[in-house]
Amino acid sequence: MTVSESVSKPHRVVVIGTGAVGSTTAYTLLLHKRMSELVFIDANHNKALGEALDMNHGLPFVGGVKLWAGDYSDCKDADIIIIAAGSNQRPGETRIDLLNRNSAIFEDIISNITKYNNSGILLIATNPVDILSYVSWKKSGWPSNRVIGSGTLLDSARFRYLIGKEKGIDPRSIHAHIIGEHGDSELPVWSLSNIAGAPLNFEEDKQKEIFENTKNAAYEIINAKGSTSYAIALALDRIVAAILQNEHAVLNVSSLLEDYHGISDVYLGVPAIVGRDGIQAKLPIPMNEHEEELLRASATKLKDQIAQLDI
Ligand code: 2OP
Repeated sequence: MTVSESVSKPHRVVVIGTGAVGSTTAYTLLLHKRMSELVFIDANHNKALGEALDMNHGLPFVGGVKLWAGDYSDCKDADIIIIAAGSNQRPGETRIDLLNRNSAIFEDIISNITKYNNSGILLIATNPVDILSYVSWKKSGWPSNRVIGSGTLLDSARFRYLIGKEKGIDPRSIHAHIIGEHGDSELPVWSLSNIAGAPLNFEEDKQKEIFENTKNAAYEIINAKGSTSYAIALALDRIVAAILQNEHAVLNVSSLLEDYHGISDVYLGVPAIVGRDGIQAKLPIPMNEHEEELLRASATKLKDQIAQLDI
């Protein structure tokens, strides 16, 4: 696509599910004016209507976006369809505990979307996000580059925030990756973490503390306020920007692995190049043996769950 085409063509983003994550994501996209049309779909249409009305009243302050509560026929012509529908964790629940509840509603959602759109990009946020991205890929029949999960982009942001706080450095200047499941089997790639190329050199206990706090961040927030929303909304907004502006940005999103360190046929968060066609490539980052072992264990855990699904 040429630059002039990308400026003149209206960009439509559809958000399915207007709970805490969906509505905060929509609000974040609106503030950044990522698209010209924003549509809300919710099984509870009244909730979608309320969110759309509330945000419409903000248009005199931001302008430039047409937004409304719609139905699945509005997926037609959508560039990106974000799925944030489903249950979220109650205190004490893991993301995997949501699988049966949320995979059932995904059957319906994907078949409704594909009645109207077969050329857009699906961006999955509902948990367990890696497995539901895999389910969405299988059920939609779309090429895997156009089915993306939010993956460990958020976990990597939490990790960079915590490292930055420890070092007194802006988290945007910290290069550090969490990969694997967006959940309890994720892993830090300490061997590649750096600031301006310089290794981080944390004591082992400090490393452990930073990673545990990264991994358990969502549990802490859910215990404190019931759900997480702001940082995941910013992560989804970041992915939307990378797609619509054809950035070729490297983001730790969830994508279909095909012989990635020997791992295939599972969605996991790894550094991927994201642009207008979705996933353009995955970066084969070097890892030490221990990290590779942990990534394999994360893949096996998710594959065992997938094997129990009827897909
Ligand atoms: C998060 O990590 C709960 O997956 C959600 O914030």
